[in-house]
Amino acid sequence: MSDVTVVGLGPMGSKMAETFLAAGHAVKVWNRTASKADPLVAQGAVRAASAADGELLVVSQISYQAMYDSLGEARLDGKVVVNLSSGSPDELREAARWVAGRGGTLITAGIMVPPPGIGQPGAYSFYSGPQDVLDRHRATLEALGGVTYVGADHGLAMMYYQALLLIFWTSLTSHMHAMAMLGSAGVSALEFLPFARELFTQLGGDGPMGYAKILAEEVAAGVYPGGENSLHMQAVSLGHALEALTQAGVETTVPEALLRLFERADAEGRGEEGLGTVIESIKKP
Ligand SMILES: NC(=O)c1ccc[n+]([C@@H]2O[C@H](COP(=O)([O-])OP(=O)(O)OC[C@H]3O[C@@H](n4cnc5c(N)ncnc54)[C@H](OP(=O)(O)O)[C@@H]3O)[C@@H](O)[C@H]2O)c1
Repeated sequence: MSDVTVVGLGPMGSKMAETFLAAGHAVKVWNRTASKADPLVAQGAVRAASAADGELLVVSQISYQAMYDSLGEARLDGKVVVNLSSGSPDELREAARWVAGRGGTLITAGIMVPPPGIGQPGAYSFYSGPQDVLDRHRATLEALGGVTYVGADHGLAMMYYQALLLIFWTSLTSHMHAMAMLGSAGVSALEFLPFARELFTQLGGDGPMGYAKILAEEVAAGVYPGGENSLHMQAVSLGHALEALTQAGVETTVPEALLRLFERADAEGRGEEGLGTVIESIKKP
């Protein structure tokens, strides 16, 4: 089994190192706060001499700046750096140039599970950068979960990752608004749960509420039929929902922003189109 050096031993990096060890790889570990390596050394990892000590460096830190701070002036000739940290797409593109300037190759990645999910069924990460380099290390990286290559542009892995996180955060925050509103009338979160689950399921399905697919097809075609479900009607409805939240005494930052967006699309003259027309306003801030 090949060697891998894990750089960054927060909750994610520590679990990655454990997972590589469990898969039979020879693992070196490095962290700014060196003591975080101790439990991994006890499990068979070797303390790396520096963050650049190894041929395949798997990085998981709070930011890309942390990678610069960790690698410092080290040469990276022939080394492959796979960075699974969060950053902005432009930061990732700049990091690829930085690593190349030191003789190495950067693969960027966005990992779609929290620490307990690493290496478990269903875990996967988006990867971008040179595909031939990724393919050389694919078998090693598969210990962490599925390897999903999304393109040569180093920013893409993070854009896919952030695209899914945006859906995750906004839909779950709306779920929280819903629970808070119903909670004000004495309805418990668990009483409401079956309805929330059903909606989440239907949104991903193929039925009349299968809006993930409906919207994607409309956006791909650039056509948003309003039919019997116009954006104008939904903007008015959202206004009512906002009143309901206010009457329930809960805060309204996110639904207010949503209403502003819907009303703008309506005011721009597309109120008779369907919900999907909101993307035209999103694309032109
Ligand atoms: N946790 C999750 O569920 C999850 C899921 C997907 C992706 N991610 C991403 O995975 C990355 C790691 O997350 P995490 O939860 O393990 O913890 P984290 O708090 O984001 O990162 C902790 C690590 O970053 C290091 N670090 C911070 N500043 C540094 C610097 N200036 N120089 C060197 N090292 C520095 C810390 O070193 P010290 O120990 O020395 O402080 C530690 O190893 C993040 O980018 C996060 O967005 C997290």
